[in-house]
Amino acid sequence: MKALVLSGGEGSRLRPLTHTNAKQLIPIANTPILFHVLRAIAEAGITEVGIVVGHTAEEVRAAVGDGSAFGLAVTYIPQEAPLGLAHAVLTAADFVRGGPFVMYLGDNVLLQPIDGFVREFERARPDAQIFLARVPEPERFGVAVLDGDRVVRLVEKPRERISDLALVGVYLFDEPILEACASLRPSWRGELEITDAIQWLIDHGHTVRAELVTGWWKDTGRPEDLLEANRMMLGTLEPRVEGTVDADSVLEGVVVVEAGAKVVGSHLLGPTIVGPGTLVEGSTVGPYASIAGGCEIRESAVADSIVMEGCRILGVPGIAGSILGRGVEIRRGDGGLHRLVLGDQSRVETP
Ligand code: DAU
Repeated sequence: MKALVLSGGEGSRLRPLTHTNAKQLIPIANTPILFHVLRAIAEAGITEVGIVVGHTAEEVRAAVGDGSAFGLAVTYIPQEAPLGLAHAVLTAADFVRGGPFVMYLGDNVLLQPIDGFVREFERARPDAQIFLARVPEPERFGVAVLDGDRVVRLVEKPRERISDLALVGVYLFDEPILEACASLRPSWRGELEITDAIQWLIDHGHTVRAELVTGWWKDTGRPEDLLEANRMMLGTLEPRVEGTVDADSVLEGVVVVEAGAKVVGSHLLGPTIVGPGTLVEGSTVGPYASIAGGCEIRESAVADSIVMEGCRILGVPGIAGSILGRGVEIRRGDGGLHRLVLGDQSRVETP
């Protein structure tokens, strides 16, 4: 079985973070979302992976390389424009033709491994297998209407509430999906929708199975989703201290301090992770803070946040619920609580 990972697209709801970063490379617990996806694929015993890339192709290639770091052989498949998930499948037709494949959306985070999904698909061999999860806002997703355990209807971003069962961004397909995708016309939002392709399979008598996902799942489309995914992923960490922590510091709960990091006179509240080479001095970090490598945090407090490489937070007492892009600098606080979503190289100075 091969895997197809979709890592093109625009990420418009995550601007300004995605002006310079592929949204799939935004770190969750200091590891890009895409790496979590690739690890899940490798753990399912799959080695051949096609990654569909768009205008952020170079960043994705630079991060993933040939895939050998994950035990994978990666082929990059450029998509001319983000014209829809079914368009991405058609773009990858030469790569996926000739056997079943798992399609994994590069911005989806699942805590559950996918090997069980893959084994069950190989045993039952339907033409498609979809995964569903109950969501409070079905209008943000593709949804499925079931009759018993049979899928009868799929609708992308429904305007009326016809079901609260959203399609999770992991799909298993056999060859007929190519014919289905090829027969589509663009939807009202101008995309070739994978939901329409699966509906085509149903309408043409192919077997489509659906299974409810019980584990935690998130489409990281919005900043608040990233923070929630970050909290969930931090919750899976094992404590590890490879950097230095001085005698005046206190570590509570599950804390990871990477090699080369320095913690001086600080309080780290788990779950939290401090990346390689980062300095934390006179500060409180966590809970639920992911501080990437090469950062400097002095006389500050950071909780429930994603702080990317090379950020400097100096004298800011209340950063919470924030996402800081690479190289962001924040100085001097006024004692208030800060909520920030900042792109690369942003600078904020409070009075
Ligand atoms: O996350 C689950 C949802 O994903 C499903 O419930 C929906 O049915 C499905 O259409 C999809 O909806 P989104 O609107 O969230 O898809 P998005 O545009 O965010 O794209 C998902 C991933 O695929 C993302 O990593 C970008 C990539 N992509 C997207 C498009 C449209 C491509 O590589 N090429 C594309 O043309």
